[in-house]
Amino acid sequence: MKKWKINSWKNYPVKHIPEYTDKKELDMVLGKLKNFPPLVFAGETRHLKEQLANVVDGKAFLLQGGDCAESFAEFHPDNIRDTFKVMLQMSLVLTYSASLPVVKLGRIAGQFSKPRSAPTEIKNGVELPSYLGDNINGIEFNERSRVPDPKRLFKAYSQSASTLNLIRAFSHGGFADLKMVHTWNLGFIKKSPQAKKFKELEDKIADALAFMDACGINSDFNRRLKTVNFWTSHEALLLPFEESMTRVDSTTGEYHDTSAHFVWIGDRTRQIDGGHVEFCRGIENPIGIKCGPTSKPEEIVKICNAINPKNEKGKVTLISRYGYDNVGKFLPKLIRAVKKEGLNVVWSCDPMHGNTIKSATGFKTRPFNNVVREVKNVFAVHQSEGSFAGGLHIEMTGQNVTECTGGAQKISDQDLSHRYHTHCDPRLNASQALELAFLISDEIKKNSQYSKNIAQAVS
Ligand code: PEP
Ligand code: CO
Repeated sequence: MKKWKINSWKNYPVKHIPEYTDKKELDMVLGKLKNFPPLVFAGETRHLKEQLANVVDGKAFLLQGGDCAESFAEFHPDNIRDTFKVMLQMSLVLTYSASLPVVKLGRIAGQFSKPRSAPTEIKNGVELPSYLGDNINGIEFNERSRVPDPKRLFKAYSQSASTLNLIRAFSHGGFADLKMVHTWNLGFIKKSPQAKKFKELEDKIADALAFMDACGINSDFNRRLKTVNFWTSHEALLLPFEESMTRVDSTTGEYHDTSAHFVWIGDRTRQIDGGHVEFCRGIENPIGIKCGPTSKPEEIVKICNAINPKNEKGKVTLISRYGYDNVGKFLPKLIRAVKKEGLNVVWSCDPMHGNTIKSATGFKTRPFNNVVREVKNVFAVHQSEGSFAGGLHIEMTGQNVTECTGGAQKISDQDLSHRYHTHCDPRLNASQALELAFLISDEIKKNSQYSKNIAQAVS
């Protein structure tokens, strides 16, 4: 392996990074960002890696979720709060049913840049460069807004910092206290079947807390009852930005990308000889690798070895995203190749990106049923291969949007236009996300791998 440097990725071909016309301005912005405070601290990143090592061992479950693309327009404390609430609710459902701790990882506080399937977009005969994410260009369909503007990086940094600040406050300031569980429910799902199920769970938790309180165990004495660890993640796509946020940790001398705790390499940029893999192999952060239908098992093995030469547990998360009807064709082969090499990985399932279709009404959507099918198929494959289905990666929001069809609210093609707010891919709304958590908890109960782990944990 060639020696890694913070900018050695520049010696490799890179995809999906925009050409900035004003290079001087880009350098000025990146130069300033290099001196901005890190968004996360290296010690936190190490802590997350330890938690992910538990997922590798089947002792915890990973829940990763948030917007497909964060935007400047949707930046609002209520949106952050509601995404946080749904993640807490989903975690509680999963923890309760599987008796496993849930590692909570937001696609938040930095998830801006997007790889696009086409470099340009045509509307009414006018062709313009595609929208690439709010930290690169604007979504408005006019020439000016589509020019990559380096200064957008300042705004994205600032939005990430204040989002993270609020998340830290929620996580440690009392909002996540188990005693507050009844306040996590969102108004618009209160009448849904999931809300009823969640209420039953709330009551059971209240009983358990009352019992523990009577035994002298309560949140005044045990921080873990009133705080949570909530980590941040995004796709490490825009490498000039990621490089500018990468710093040497003074306590260990190691490089950490301080823009988030966890970053992942997308399905379109995971070339073994590409700049994205090169950049990610030098940083200490845990790394996700998206695996789609075009990924060859032997290539994924090579990427794992490049990124994690010491085969450290918790360093690599493989995120499969094949599409519900492709899981059986691709996933077993990947699991076998990874097992043959003895690689330690977290197996996570992204049931969103392989199930995107165009609705009859012209919207990009994902039928909830197909999302559920992919999850079920992935669990079944892991069950038969004897591996641990340890994670879920979803695009979701706490808002009452109508972007994915189906679910208990029975969102139809016609309903999509009502509240379709996403800047990129369609997200599950809070009701659909919670419904998915209940369905997964049923899968977990069925899976012998979990029962084995729970039995081991108890004995
Ligand atoms: C994403 O997670 O938003 C994404 C673009 O996914 P993928 O790389 O799997 O297509
Ligand atoms: Co997406």
